[in-house]
Amino acid sequence: MSEMTVDSSKRRFLVAMSSTLGGVAAVGAALPFVFSMNPSARALAAGAPVEVDLSKIEPGMKVDVEWRGKPVWVVHRTPEMLELLGKHDDKLTDPNSDNTNQQPPYCKNPTRAIKPEYFIVVGICTHLGCSPTYRKEVGPADLGADWPGGWFCPCHGSRFDMAARVFKGSPAPTNLVVPPHKYLSESKVLIGEDQGASA
Ligand code: FES
Repeated sequence: MSEMTVDSSKRRFLVAMSSTLGGVAAVGAALPFVFSMNPSARALAAGAPVEVDLSKIEPGMKVDVEWRGKPVWVVHRTPEMLELLGKHDDKLTDPNSDNTNQQPPYCKNPTRAIKPEYFIVVGICTHLGCSPTYRKEVGPADLGADWPGGWFCPCHGSRFDMAARVFKGSPAPTNLVVPPHKYLSESKVLIGEDQGASA
């Protein structure tokens, strides 16, 4: 057997062994899914409403949850944040939420919320889909003295206030989307379902 032949058999053996090991690893990785959820249960879970306990969110804080594969932010707005909301309508593209695609009818109001202190919004920029950064501080050096708190999209610089209404001059054409939701109790909210029907 020439050296060439030996090398090539070795190579074949190694290739065969690594494919087998790869196969074992793939089966091992697949098993938990197979046994934990069948496809229809997975599909159901992916679209299922998400319950959030608001009592755990400190004033000024934001928590992120996932609904239908999208990030959804739940923010506990402070009285100061709410007061600032009414002071810059002239700088916004759609201050009155007239674009009805961006929120359910029950959130077409100055705070874009059912309860003003709790704001719920899909965290995807309406320009090209980046996730904006929460910038709740007022007047930071990099955003300017008139920044009232809100979200800044790092991709192309869109700016949104604390009701996720877009500032004029941003590349994003519309306010961020408020998803359907309803209150189950004083402190529990269900995201993804309205009064009556599944969204
Ligand atoms: S994706 Fe947000 S500004 Fe472009």
